Amino acid sequence: MKPAIIAPSILSADFARLGDEVTAVIEAGADWIHFDVMDNHYVPNLTIGPMICKAIRPVTKAPIDVHLMVKPVDAMIEAFAEAGADWISFHPEASDHVDRSLDLIRRKGCKAGLVLNPATSVDCLEWVMDRLDLILLMSVNPGFGGQAFIPSALAKARRVRELIDASGRDIRLEIDGGVKTDNIRAVAEAGVDTFVAGSAIYGAPDYRAVIAAMRGEIAA
Ligand code: DX5
Ligand code: ZN
Repeated sequence: MKPAIIAPSILSADFARLGDEVTAVIEAGADWIHFDVMDNHYVPNLTIGPMICKAIRPVTKAPIDVHLMVKPVDAMIEAFAEAGADWISFHPEASDHVDRSLDLIRRKGCKAGLVLNPATSVDCLEWVMDRLDLILLMSVNPGFGGQAFIPSALAKARRVRELIDASGRDIRLEIDGGVKTDNIRAVAEAGVDTFVAGSAIYGAPDYRAVIAAMRGEIAA
């Protein structure tokens, strides 16, 4: 297994102090910044765009993991690549040409990911494994932080872990939604190596303590 990555979602950060909130979680031991982009079209919420990504880019050296919940996706792929994103993932339902959109992410110099909603079949991965650097499994329906973890995501993670291992490719398996200290061990045991957590980290009084507790659970 790859070394575990913890990626706090800034969706649950204090937006009035966003730069400081980015710095704080990285100094507290997090690895990536998870950046949730919602358009009030593909999902019923509206968040932040490439201007904010560009603004936080100089604040940290940590990779910025952009999760696009927008439809269509291609213009936003270009905008976020230019704004300094390192990883860009999108939902297959949001692109008419998934293979083309994945290719565009890599051509713009970023790592490419596909995001599966709780009800989305893993079948859509079959013909694009060679285009992928990351597979992101949603363990909530996308649109909001602070929702409860959907248990079927564990079985799906085990299935996708098998697909990744069988492919022999260098692909990260990430999970997003409802991840807490008390369920992260089960998620890791299902084969996940990259953990998004929004409310569990930004809602805690001590970021360092919760990130350390999560790492302790993963390593145990
Ligand atoms: C949901 C977002 C998640 C969300 C996770 O649509 O993609 O990244 O912020 O938040 P928590 O960890 O609170 O479920
Ligand atoms: Zn997300």
